[in-house]
Amino acid sequence: MNPEFAGGVFTAAGAQFASWYARLWRPLGELTVAVTRPSPGDRVLDACCGSGASAVPAAIAVGPSGHVDAVDMAGGLLDQGRATAAGLDQLVFTEHDVLTWDGGPYDLVQCVYGVFFFPDMDAGARRLISRLRPGGRFAVTTWRHDGMARIVPIGQAAAAAERPELTGPAGRVGSQGRIDTPEKLTTWLTGLGLVDVEVEEIGFVQPLHPEDAWTLFLGAAMRAFITGMDEAAVARVKERYLAGLAEAGLTSLDCGSLVAVGRVPA
Ligand SMILES: C[S@@+](CC[C@H](N)C(=O)[O-])C[C@H]1O[C@@H](n2cnc3c(N)ncnc32)[C@H](O)[C@@H]1O
Repeated sequence: MNPEFAGGVFTAAGAQFASWYARLWRPLGELTVAVTRPSPGDRVLDACCGSGASAVPAAIAVGPSGHVDAVDMAGGLLDQGRATAAGLDQLVFTEHDVLTWDGGPYDLVQCVYGVFFFPDMDAGARRLISRLRPGGRFAVTTWRHDGMARIVPIGQAAAAAERPELTGPAGRVGSQGRIDTPEKLTTWLTGLGLVDVEVEEIGFVQPLHPEDAWTLFLGAAMRAFITGMDEAAVARVKERYLAGLAEAGLTSLDCGSLVAVGRVPA
């Protein structure tokens, strides 16, 4: 997704994104920081920060002597983050394309469910890595192949019935498939020049009521599929999507994720 489009989709998704904050984004942001473990005084970039799910715990970890830049294109989500983070003066939210962000140098750059949206994932990750000090750490959180990846194609197929151009790989909203196993993620990060790469697997399954499955569609990247569609078409997409989930027996949401951390050589 190009950065402006991503920012527009996620700002439009604001209310539904917020409805999943406590159940999805916040716990996985907290779990990410339980792996990345910034130290007091660290300088951190949280790239694609959304409403601050991982930026807030990072800011608590670095404390008042540290600093966290939380950067995203979705101004609406940043406003939610600022409200959550009131009083955490070391955390600064900025609306900006992370691919042209030139802050730093940072001790840690973390990107939680963001890298796979970059139009060129390798170039985007290289850009983020370039903001690190020598010896600094780069962390990526992404969906595991057997989790969220089962739902998104059902949403894509439901929308493709209205928009044939969404059919197949060309209609995909991201490059998750390139990094959705520990092996693929390790190979990718090592290929970008990182050393000491370690991947932590996070298992996290929760119930999924059909109405909540629809707010998930509207509150995250699947929303891109229906951007600009009229109401009647969206209603048909919803019907097909829910029927598709039922047919696949998806009555729970597998949020299984991978958190990888590697280091640039000192
Ligand atoms: C799935 S959300 C994840 C948000 C947050 N990290 C979390 O875990 O709650 C992906 C975010 O990436 C942002 N994004 C994608 N490409 C971007 C770019 N080039 N620059 C800034 N933000 C970007 C979107 O605006 C969106 O908020």
